[in-house]
Amino acid sequence: MSIESVTHIDNVKLSENGSAVVIIDQSLLPNETVYLTLDKAEDLWEAIYSLRVRGAPAIGIFAAYAIYVLSARTKAESFEEFYAEFSKNRDYLDSSRPTAVNLHTMLWRMDAAVRENREKKIPEIIAALKDEALKIHREDMDMCRAISEYGLELVKDGFGILTHCNAGPLATSRYGTGLGTIFLGKERGMEFHAWVDETRPLLQGARLTSYELQKAGVDCTLICDNMASIVMKEGKINACFVGCDRVAANGDTANKIGTSGVAILAKHYGIPFYVFCPSSTIDFDCKTGADIKIEERNPDEIKTKFFEKPVALPEVKCYNPAFDVTDADLITAIVTEKGICRAPYTESLAALFGDRK
Ligand code: MRU
Repeated sequence: MSIESVTHIDNVKLSENGSAVVIIDQSLLPNETVYLTLDKAEDLWEAIYSLRVRGAPAIGIFAAYAIYVLSARTKAESFEEFYAEFSKNRDYLDSSRPTAVNLHTMLWRMDAAVRENREKKIPEIIAALKDEALKIHREDMDMCRAISEYGLELVKDGFGILTHCNAGPLATSRYGTGLGTIFLGKERGMEFHAWVDETRPLLQGARLTSYELQKAGVDCTLICDNMASIVMKEGKINACFVGCDRVAANGDTANKIGTSGVAILAKHYGIPFYVFCPSSTIDFDCKTGADIKIEERNPDEIKTKFFEKPVALPEVKCYNPAFDVTDADLITAIVTEKGICRAPYTESLAALFGDRK
């Protein structure tokens, strides 16, 4: 596979006739590449809930297409009837996962597109929804590219980069956020060595990140999450690169469970820890990370999923938070599409994106 076949993968798109959303089922990778064509509300909800589509930006794009597809089928005869149906679908899709803000933000952007066009005929409102969903997708492509360019300011040829979870093309559009710099640098002839945390319990690092990097010809090594300390101590890591699911106004960052542990280790070993963040993932309504709702998932993900036999007794209690919050003071910089923000983040994020507050 060429780098471009990884960075330009169609992970989320509208079907050709626009009546469904087509995704790669990420829950089956890397063993099977299966495309799903989804058009029922329950299936669209389930695809997000079960991480068939995952990664904050990809979920946001998917949700925008999903609500367009559901709206386009309406038989409503008045705006009121149309908006009541739309609102029901919006809230239903929004209930599929709580932590990544992109899901909520993009559904509400679609809502704004409906309200702004309320004086128009229903087919025109539906056309406006399609335009908005396509715009959201294009914007994400541009943001990923710009973030990846800024990331190149932070690396040197030969860098060892540790990453957690998956913030590549599958989780976004095109280059990705946390992995974008690695792909863009590789395209320009740079060589990095990526160290990939497997990312328990759903193994996004092992299943998705190492897959993307390997297919793009990036030198990469997979490690269990509890091996990050030794590779840092052995001097193999020059920087940590991660994505994010919701960044609070003060820079506190929710990302896949285990991210904050990586940041704490990085601080201990004096290694820079960078968050790659499209502005669509900043939530100015959350003052700090304490305001971010953390998703808790089924204990079977810890005890039985991916194992031939259960690894613990059925009666053993499990706690399965899907995300944690990395405190802003552990983050060396937040890389956005408009530039690189440094502490204090309340000021640096507001300076670039204050108009969105
Ligand atoms: O549970 P997931 O796989 O959706 O979690 C995804 C992550 O934590 C990613 O790091 C994050 O969404 C950033 S994707 C650019």
